[in-house]
Amino acid sequence: RLSPTGCPVSARAAAFDPFTGPYQEDPPGSLRWSRDEEPVFYNPQLGYWVVTRYEDVKAIFRDNITFSPANVLEKITPFGDEANAVLAKYDYGMSRTLVNEDEPAHMPRRRALMEPFTPPQLAHHEPMVRRLVREHVDRFIDKGKADLVDEMLYEIPLTVALHFLGVPEEDMETLRRYSVAHTLNTWGRPAPEEQVAVAENVGKFWQYAGTVLDKMREDPSGPGWMQYGIRLQPEMPDVITDSYLHSMMMAGIVAAHETTALASANAIKLLLENRSLWEELCADPSLIANAVEECLRFSGSIVAWRRITTKATKIGDVELPEGAKLLIVNTSANHDERFFDNPDELDLRRENASDHLSFGYGAHQCMGKNLARMEIQIFLEELTTRLPHLELAPGQTFTYLPNTSFRGPEHLWVRWDPAKNPERERP
Ligand code: HEM
Repeated sequence: RLSPTGCPVSARAAAFDPFTGPYQEDPPGSLRWSRDEEPVFYNPQLGYWVVTRYEDVKAIFRDNITFSPANVLEKITPFGDEANAVLAKYDYGMSRTLVNEDEPAHMPRRRALMEPFTPPQLAHHEPMVRRLVREHVDRFIDKGKADLVDEMLYEIPLTVALHFLGVPEEDMETLRRYSVAHTLNTWGRPAPEEQVAVAENVGKFWQYAGTVLDKMREDPSGPGWMQYGIRLQPEMPDVITDSYLHSMMMAGIVAAHETTALASANAIKLLLENRSLWEELCADPSLIANAVEECLRFSGSIVAWRRITTKATKIGDVELPEGAKLLIVNTSANHDERFFDNPDELDLRRENASDHLSFGYGAHQCMGKNLARMEIQIFLEELTTRLPHLELAPGQTFTYLPNTSFRGPEHLWVRWDPAKNPERERP
C-alpha cells in the first residue's frame, strides 16, 4: 500500500489500530517501534499520519498556522446514514470553540475569555474543591474499600466543571452518558449498530447545551465562565458568536470535566502501582506538586490530539501534502527517551516533568491546566493524609473506553483497613 505521497506503507504502520489491542493497553509502549524507527507514518485505515516523537509533536503544536486544529472535534470515524439522520434530527451543529478555531479568530477569543482562568480567579475555587474532597472521603473512609472513580473522581471534577462554567448541576448519570457518547462520537469507532444510540445521546447533549444557554441568557449575571462570555458578546459580537457559545457549552463540559476525572484516576492508579513512591508522598507532601506533573507526563488523560496541514510541509524528512490529517500522540512524546531520561520510570523528582505535552503546547495550550492541577493536587493531599495505607484492590482488570484520545480507567478499586485510619488514632 502507498501513502498519499506515493511512499510504501510499512507493515507496522498499516497494522496500527488505536481502537483495540496494544494501543488500548499501553499507548506509549505500543508506539516504541515508531519512535525508534518510523516517527511519522501513514495509517491507511484511519487516513491519518501518526506522529510519535517529542520534538515533532511539540513543533506541530507550536505552529498552528501550518498545522491547523480545525479537525480537533471532527468525527474520527465517519458514521452511517442512519446515525447521521439522528444527529440532523437534533440539529447537531458542533462547530468552532477555541480548541479547534483557526487564527486570526482564535487568539482574540482566547484573550477575551482568559480572565476567569488566572491564578487569583482560580483561587476562589480551591476551598470548594477541598470541601468536596473531604466530604466524599468522609462517606467512604470507614468502609475499607471503594471504587474511587464511582465514589469521588468522576463526580467532583464534574461538580467543579459545572460550577466553573456556571451551569446548574444536572443529573450526574445523564451527563456521564452524554460524555461517553461525545467521546465515542468524536474519538471512537462505534460499530454500525452502536452508532444510532451514540448519535441519540450526542443529539440530546447538544439540545441540553442549547437549553442551558437560552436560560443563561435570561440572566447572565452569574459568576461562571459561560456567563462571562455571554456578557462580552454585545461588545464583541464577531469574537463571541452564538455558534461559539452553543458549541462551547457542550464541549466545555467535557473539556473541563472528563479530562480531569480521568487524569486523577490515572495518577492515583500509577502511584499505588508504585507503592514506595506513594509512601514517599505520604511522608513528604512537598513532593505532591511535582508528582502531579510527573503523573500527567507518564499517564495523561489526553493521549493523542489532531491537526490538519494547511499547505504541503515536512516533518523530519517525511513530506506531507496539504490537507494531511495528523494524529499526534502526545503520550508517546512524553515517553520519548530523546527528551526525557528513563521515560518509563515514574520519578517524583524529575526536573523537567512539567515539559510534558499532556496539556498541548503553544497558542492552544490548555486554558484549564491550573484548575486541573489544583484538583489532582487536592485529591492526592487528602488521600495521602487520610488514607496513607490505601492500596489497589488485587486482581482487578482495568477497562478503558476504546477511543484514540481520552484515557483513564473506568473503575479504580482500592482497599485499606479502617481500623488503621490515622484519624481514629488521633481524632
Ligand atoms: C485545550 C488537555 C483540563 C479547558 C486543551 C488541549 C489539551 C487539553 C490537550 C489542546 C491543547 C493544544 O491544542 O495545544 C487537558 C487535560 C486536562 C484539561 C489533560 C486535565 C488534566 C481542562 C479544564 C478546563 C480546560 C479543567 C476548563 C476548566 C480547555 C480549553 C482549551 C483546552 C478552553 C482550549 C484552549 C485553546 O484552544 O486556546 N486541554 N485539559 N481543560 N482546555 Fe484542557
